[in-house]
Amino acid sequence: MDFKKEPQTSSCKKLLPFLFFQLMLSMLLFAYIRNNRQTDSSLAVSPTREPPQQLETSTLIDKRPPEITILLWTWPFGQSFNFPKCSSLFKIEDCRFTVNRSWYPNADAVVVHHRDVCYSKNLPRNPRPPSQLWIWFNLESPSHSPNLGFMDNQFNLTMSYRRDSGIFTPYGWLEVLDHPQNVTVPAKSKLVAWVVSNWNPSSRRVQYYQELKKYITVDVYGQRHLPLPRDKHHSTLNQYKFYLSFENSIHEDYITEKVWKNAFLSMAIPIVLGPPRKNYERFIPPDSFIHVEDFPSAQEMAHFLQELDKDDLRYQSYFRWRSWLKPVGETGWHIQYCKACRALQNKPILYTVVPELSKWFK
Ligand SMILES: *[C@@H]1O[C@H](CO)[C@@H](O)[C@H](O)[C@H]1NC(C)=O
Ligand SMILES: *[C@@H]1O[C@H](CO)[C@@H](O)[C@H](O)[C@H]1NC(C)=O
Ligand SMILES: *[C@@H]1O[C@H](CO)[C@@H](O)[C@H](O)[C@H]1NC(C)=O
Repeated sequence: MDFKKEPQTSSCKKLLPFLFFQLMLSMLLFAYIRNNRQTDSSLAVSPTREPPQQLETSTLIDKRPPEITILLWTWPFGQSFNFPKCSSLFKIEDCRFTVNRSWYPNADAVVVHHRDVCYSKNLPRNPRPPSQLWIWFNLESPSHSPNLGFMDNQFNLTMSYRRDSGIFTPYGWLEVLDHPQNVTVPAKSKLVAWVVSNWNPSSRRVQYYQELKKYITVDVYGQRHLPLPRDKHHSTLNQYKFYLSFENSIHEDYITEKVWKNAFLSMAIPIVLGPPRKNYERFIPPDSFIHVEDFPSAQEMAHFLQELDKDDLRYQSYFRWRSWLKPVGETGWHIQYCKACRALQNKPILYTVVPELSKWFK
């Protein structure tokens, strides 16, 4: 009996890590699919829409969609750029983009960038051409998006970082790799970095920093701090083990380039101050970041960071997810507008109005 038991337990021991690995893998894939489904079906999840209905789309399938014209009511923040070829970004037909308002009567959609109209209240004229869709576009947080009220009942779709937007345009996302890769964390010579341009002494993030720096060295870059030339951005931040991804205001889903570009693309662990941990975990793996709420005080967090600094294996464990997932954080206007192009092509747009923008976006 004993003799027979022996090989059994040892194969069992071998099986356990394997099963555990399988479990981790399926959890990762599940999380990914859940996120992606949200991205791809994002048209269907605007809070202001009726639940999506099954449409008879078979007649559309083999037809080349007619070219879609999208009028940018303004350049976003007045910044012009070359219009993208969406066919090279996504597997879709190109859209015709223009900022020439003479196209208004013929435009299938008008994208209105919030910041450029919120003070002037200069919206396209009504009545609009039948079937033209107005798309409200905004990547700023509600704290920095004044005058929403006059836009109620004007728009047909929303386009923002909020996951329940008609067109979901986050600051970054994860892509699943075809093959697992070995993760190598570059050698780090420094501890904590923070890049901040808008220094508001009474903000929660500055107050947290003031407390944190009593216990651990934090190198601050930005206006009135250490210089950080654009071309040195990654090579500088790469040297740090941790990056303070402190958002300027706290709102659901408002997770910005401070996590995606500054921390993830620089191979630093983001220390986040923003919406609750659960909200972050809808977008990124739980073991990819440190949340200020994980600790009762800045002092205790500083202590934890010092421990991690000394324990390389534990530090590296924050990078394990990268064997299957790749963060994308270099987004730009061209990607956002092509998402609008894709949404207009891919989805039959049902009758839809955003009634109370100001109640939803807060
Ligand atoms: C805008 O489009 C109209 C009609 O195609 C054209 O006549 C006009 O020259 C264009 N304006 C600019 C500034 O390109
Ligand atoms: C990853 O590392 C292991 C062990 O060092 C090696 O056997 C494997 O070939 C590596 N895989 C890749 C994709 O580099
Ligand atoms: C878009 O919104 C406007 C304003 O509420 C509405 O009149 C129009 O019917 C909507 N269009 C579609 C296609 O839903």
